[in-house]
Order: sequence, then structure tokens, then C-alpha cells
Amino acid sequence: MKILFVCLGNICRSPLAAAIFNHKVKELRLDQILFSDSCGTGNYHIGGAADDRSIAIAKKNDVEIQHVVRQLTADDLVEFDHIIAMDKNNLSNIKRLPYAKENYEKVKLMREYDPQGLGDVPDPYYGTEKDFREVYDILDRSIGEFILDLKKQLV
Ligand code: 4NP
Repeated sequence: MKILFVCLGNICRSPLAAAIFNHKVKELRLDQILFSDSCGTGNYHIGGAADDRSIAIAKKNDVEIQHVVRQLTADDLVEFDHIIAMDKNNLSNIKRLPYAKENYEKVKLMREYDPQGLGDVPDPYYGTEKDFREVYDILDRSIGEFILDLKKQLV
């Protein structure tokens, strides 16, 4: 099963989400079954690395980020089984792509899985270390619930 995490720049939130997901899945020994990648709706940082502040907050939690930025394509909507948007703007950009209509049931907001509530995963790009910590905490608990949900689909 293939999961794609999507944000705007593909440097702050979605590479962190994919790294947290892959870390948890490995701990659960589900890494042969569940695979994730990330991308951005924007093209600003294509070919670059994740933001140093995302790499740092991940490292503090023993999570490694190794990612080359790429932009979302219409083919991703066909190839992936679940497409998880970080915020409502990402969601509406995903909806505009070809193939979106027939694959729309695959597309969800990350915080639909947050036990502490709905909303956006806030964009920390112009923020501080504290904002990256908040993003990490939101992603950590939302992805924990998301994986529980996926496990139910596997049995
Ligand atoms: P992300 O954050 O969508 O979480 O990767 C951003 C990164 C870069 C920009 C905006 C948001 N930017 O405008 O360059």
C-alpha cells in the first residue's frame, strides 16, 4: 500500500510526515507492506533537500529525513492508494489535477486523523523552532492514528 504526503513546498511538513510514517512502520515491522513518499504542490524547491529545521526536529526524535524535493503530478493520484494533504490549500490544489475526480476518495486531510482535532497542519516555513515542534507533535499523533486505520484495512 502506497501513501503520499503532500504539502506546498515539500521541504517542511510532508518530508517530515513521510519520515515519521516510515519510522513508525519500520518499528511495527510493516515496512514490507506500507510505503510512503512525499511531494509538494508548488515547484519552488524541486531537486533540493528538506528544510534544516525539519531535519533537526526529526533527528531529536530519532527519525531520519532523506528526501529530494519533487512536485505532485497527476500520475501520483493514480499510483498512490492514499494521498494525505497537510492543509486545505493543498487539498484544493490536489482536487484541480487531472484524475482527481475518479481518485477523490483517496484524498484526505492529515488532521482528519488527529485525535486532538481537525484543521490544518500549520505551515512552519516562516516560523521558529517552536512551530516545527508543534508540527512534529501534530504529525506524530495523527500518523499514529492513521497507521492504526491502515492496519484495519490490511486484515
Ligand atoms: P511546506 O512549507 O509546504 O511545509 O514545505 C513551505 C516551504 C516553502 C514555502 C512555503 C511553505 N515557500 O513559499 O517557499
